[in-house]
Amino acid sequence: MSFWPMMASLPLLPAIVLGLGRHRARAAQLCYVVLTWMLRLLRGQVCATKTHSFVFSHCTHGNANSVLEAFDVYAETHASASLGPQIGQALNEVVKHVRPSRVLELGMNCGYASVLLLRLLPPDGKLLTVEQDPAVADLGEEIILVAGFKQTQFQVLTGSSGHIIPTLQSLLEEAPGTSSTFNLVFMDHDPQQYLLDLQALEKEGLLCPSGCSIIAIIRNQRVLKELREMVQARPECYIIKSLNNEMIELFFQRVHSK
Ligand SMILES: C[S@@+](CC[C@H](N)C(=O)[O-])C[C@H]1O[C@@H](n2cnc3c(N)ncnc32)[C@H](O)[C@@H]1O
Repeated sequence: MSFWPMMASLPLLPAIVLGLGRHRARAAQLCYVVLTWMLRLLRGQVCATKTHSFVFSHCTHGNANSVLEAFDVYAETHASASLGPQIGQALNEVVKHVRPSRVLELGMNCGYASVLLLRLLPPDGKLLTVEQDPAVADLGEEIILVAGFKQTQFQVLTGSSGHIIPTLQSLLEEAPGTSSTFNLVFMDHDPQQYLLDLQALEKEGLLCPSGCSIIAIIRNQRVLKELREMVQARPECYIIKSLNNEMIELFFQRVHSK
């Protein structure tokens, strides 16, 4: 369910609980789930707002490196959902090696990785970045613009990855003369979605058949296990290129049988 219909229905929750009589226990459980979800969303927005205002007021506008430095300074003293300097550096090295031109990012937040990725794209490169929370998406987009990038170089897509992925093919086709697949996918959103989203991207034909790197931030060991099992089960298409405590890099290639 999207944010605002959920917000609007919040005042009705007590009435629903009381009105449901014998289903009261179930309704109360549902209320608990909804409230927990909303609190988490609100906490995420507060955290993103604080990060955004610090970066906005402590960086040199138009200078992407200065924007990244401001994020790093903020992370030294505050809790933040953004990638820290250590993972940022590791991501920087991997992406420099991959040299992608068309990148999909899942989970933009305030735009730290978006700025890092855009810095490394060629002049005709493009980043599509997905963020489920509209308020956070606006903050991230502003940071990307503050870093000096133009609307022609990136596109922010607001919605959950599961909803956005099936729409990407037609979106890419709308931009004539450009490739309709990605050669880098960066995942730092909901770890429970990593495998599902990767499978959906492959099914939609969005991974470049001649080679696509998939970089995922590891925030959950169970998800790492799932990804490793998937690679083991599909050795003809996937390999693990690199792995450390924070990040896994997969490589996808579709081998055509004769
Ligand atoms: C850890 S933060 C991403 C940090 C970001 N990579 C950076 O460099 O600053 C995760 C973000 O993913 C978003 N998110 C979580 N699940 C999502 C989904 N299924 N689709 C799109 N965005 C999602 C959250 O709202 C949050 O802003």
